Amino acid sequence: MSEQAFLELDRLTRIYAGTPAVHDLSLQVGEHEIVTLLGPSGCGKTTTLRIVAGFEQPDSGRVVLGGRDVTRVAPQKRGFGMVFQHYALFPHLSVGANVAFGLETAGLAKAEIGANVARALELVRLPGTEGRSVASLSGGQQQRVALARALAPEPQVLLLDEPLSNLDAALRERTRRELRALVKGIGITTIYVTHDQEEAFDLSDRIAVMRDGRLEQVGPAEELYHQPATEFVATFLGRAGQVEGVAASVRGDLVDCRLAEGVSWPALVPPSAQIEPGTPVRVLTRPEALTFAAHDAEGVLSGTVDETRFAGSVYVYTVTVEGGQLEIHARSAQARIGRRVGVRPLDPPRGVHAFVLSAAERV
Ligand SMILES: Nc1ncnc2c1ncn2[C@@H]1O[C@H](COP(=O)(O)OP(=O)(O)OP(=O)(O)O)[C@@H](O)[C@H]1O
Ligand SMILES: [Mg+2]
Repeated sequence: MSEQAFLELDRLTRIYAGTPAVHDLSLQVGEHEIVTLLGPSGCGKTTTLRIVAGFEQPDSGRVVLGGRDVTRVAPQKRGFGMVFQHYALFPHLSVGANVAFGLETAGLAKAEIGANVARALELVRLPGTEGRSVASLSGGQQQRVALARALAPEPQVLLLDEPLSNLDAALRERTRRELRALVKGIGITTIYVTHDQEEAFDLSDRIAVMRDGRLEQVGPAEELYHQPATEFVATFLGRAGQVEGVAASVRGDLVDCRLAEGVSWPALVPPSAQIEPGTPVRVLTRPEALTFAAHDAEGVLSGTVDETRFAGSVYVYTVTVEGGQLEIHARSAQARIGRRVGVRPLDPPRGVHAFVLSAAERV
């Protein structure tokens, strides 16, 4: 990370009834940076965000802002804005009263409150809507009012918990681009929470992938996609086919993997992998990194087309090979269901990743 840590989550742990919802989680967020917590339902994203906001106390660990420990500081004294997963607007109050909510409790003068509300509503492109009732707004507009309410006190840090979850797909995509532009425009340090990989890719400077309360990997989207540290990261971000193999030779982060039919593919392994010749591996492949080939040629696995799908920009093929199933993207229609085909990596080892099988999987 180039920027100095502005907000630091330092070894946070939160245990509910003996089970850690967040486990020894450390993350540094630079000033003006947007970092996304990405992970499946129940992995501890909301719990982490609530600890950062101060609504939840960690069992151990610290939240540090600009070098100052704020772990025991009350939420309203942290200067953080938050949009909750189920955004709680007051339906019986006007838009203006909703946005002013946090400002009134902060004890600002009336004229100042009015100016802040107007500015926040302008930022979310709802200028002049102070007098409208919240119930008369669309879901997307309500979402923006919730964001305006979080922005109005001009917080140093913005915490957003799946703020777009109530929007339809098209609106969601547009809103997340606007949101990034807005947050980057103000230069506000942001932690964003989602379980949606595309959303994380669109919005974030860096992504922190969570699983079972722990961080699996933190980095820019390209790094996580092209150099996944774990099989979980490789499969959670983007699509991947898989085939079983055995490591034949190892050279640094490159491993030759012996697959079925005596075919070998070079694959990338994470730097931390404990791998040596003879180690059983699972080879994960990105669909855009594979291509069809004549099936008697060298380095080509043969298989049967199981499924074909037209996805607009590409044709998607699912091919069952010995020891696995691969997905292949092609620009033009290539093969029908049931056909025998050959498959090879386009530009090995790009998009081909090997992971050591766990002991339980080796039996
Ligand atoms: N107040 C609580 N009491 C007991 N268990 C809790 C509490 N809050 C969360 N948990 C548990 O902690 C784990 C993490 O929950 P959390 O809400 O942080 O997940 P999440 O990643 O935000 O999930 P989602 O994507 O579904 O919102 C879950 O197993 C959840 O059941
Ligand atoms: Mg949640």
